[in-house]
Amino acid sequence: MVGLYGGDGQPMNLSVFGAGYVGLVTASCFADVGNSVVCVDVDAQRVEALRGGRVPIFEPGLERLVAKNAAAGRLGFTTDAGEGVRHGNILFIAVGTPSAGDGRADLQHVLEVAKQIGRHMAGAKVVVGKSTVPVGTANLVRETVATALAERGAGFDFDVVANPEFLKEGDAVNDFMRPDRIIIGTDRAESRAQLEQLYQPFIRNHSKFLHMDPCSAELAKYAANAMLATRISLMNEIAGLADRLGADIEAVRLSLGRDPRIGTHFLYAGAGYGGACFPKDMKALIHVAGKIDVATDILQAVEAVNERQKLLLVRKMQNHYGEELSGKTLALWGLTFKPNTDDLRGAPSLVVIEALLAAGARIKAYDPVANPQAKRLFGDRVELCETPYAAAAGADGLAILTEWNEFRTPDFQRLRQSMTEPAIFDGRNLYDPAYLGELGFNYHSIGRPVSTPG
Ligand SMILES: NC(=O)c1ccc[n+]([C@@H]2O[C@H](COP(=O)([O-])OP(=O)(O)OC[C@H]3O[C@@H](n4cnc5c(N)ncnc54)[C@H](O)[C@@H]3O)[C@@H](O)[C@H]2O)c1
Repeated sequence: MVGLYGGDGQPMNLSVFGAGYVGLVTASCFADVGNSVVCVDVDAQRVEALRGGRVPIFEPGLERLVAKNAAAGRLGFTTDAGEGVRHGNILFIAVGTPSAGDGRADLQHVLEVAKQIGRHMAGAKVVVGKSTVPVGTANLVRETVATALAERGAGFDFDVVANPEFLKEGDAVNDFMRPDRIIIGTDRAESRAQLEQLYQPFIRNHSKFLHMDPCSAELAKYAANAMLATRISLMNEIAGLADRLGADIEAVRLSLGRDPRIGTHFLYAGAGYGGACFPKDMKALIHVAGKIDVATDILQAVEAVNERQKLLLVRKMQNHYGEELSGKTLALWGLTFKPNTDDLRGAPSLVVIEALLAAGARIKAYDPVANPQAKRLFGDRVELCETPYAAAAGADGLAILTEWNEFRTPDFQRLRQSMTEPAIFDGRNLYDPAYLGELGFNYHSIGRPVSTPG
């Protein structure tokens, strides 16, 4: 490929399609190390906000990064796909791949970007897929670009690289700046060299590159999420056993974590996994396997355990108060699927809220950042409160669904005095059961003994 690459170590012109959690972080981090980046999104309101210096998502450190690089003229935003295609020599696809009704990953946004690339390309490009996509999508993108090029009678050289993203919401900037692996899925040496050069500033001590074919790269991303989801569901299943057998899942977790073959991560029993990735990626993997007649007993069990787990706190509340919850006011602390994000997609809280409302409860909720998003979803069906104490005031019980820092050491005295009944249902095992009992609470958590006032 001639004329494709910028000079050695020179800033590059990049474009990123999608200004969401992945796209915006990708664009601003690449700009921060000196590249010239255009970020394209079809959402005109989002682009308008970003141009005005407002970051439409909550992600620690992102606002500062966007502002700094926009001010330095290295980061711009547009709705014009053509402008994006013309600007970047490397074009990142970081648009959503939501779950379609039957569980498959909906590739319409990815393929729309591919079409736009083919329509507007005026020179050689490297197209890089960052969205989480089923095996074979890099080929599909290649065909889509080629078809759009052929329709114009144009023929430019391009490669499609699978470069899945492993950042975590809530710590996304940090993850991108200090990656633990960078998968470059391509068979072409020139694209490999180009991407290694681009990612070099994020690698300090030793190479983080993993080179593989695009199919393996695509599968590697699903495998990572499946592995993490499996650990969570396994711990939740063992927590169910601990609950019934009078054991303490926290003691079990600490013991597991000491085993270097197991490690300490993703061993927390809780109210179930959620978010924009695990649920849809599990479904997509199961769907793909189903189409080619490959059994997915483990993946399906992981999903089923998680669906059950999301309702566990509701079952605990119904065991405590009775099936019928009308006349009960329940407080919820934390609505996002994890702390430090405003993302409500796939959050267990959504399932809990619907189940409690269906059982007749009145709900008062508080989340440090996602109250506005919850208002849009639930309207007047849920009373959203300005502080955690306002949510708990007058409540018959308090359920904790997200382990935000501000819930870790609450003023228990104030809580107990303001609640109608001192009952806490903790979906994140934040407190010491014995201590909560001493303070006069009925305290229910996951896989640990119930404490009663005394
Ligand atoms: N969120 C995460 O933590 C995370 C982590 C790793 C990988 N991923 C994967 O990355 C992809 C993006 O996820 P996300 O959470 O950033 O999604 P998101 O919903 O936050 O953002 C997607 C953006 O793409 C825009 N878009 C849609 N069609 C477009 C088009 N034709 N051109 C330009 N923009 C378009 C949307 O308007 C939206 O702003 C998904 O495949 C996801 O599975 C997400």
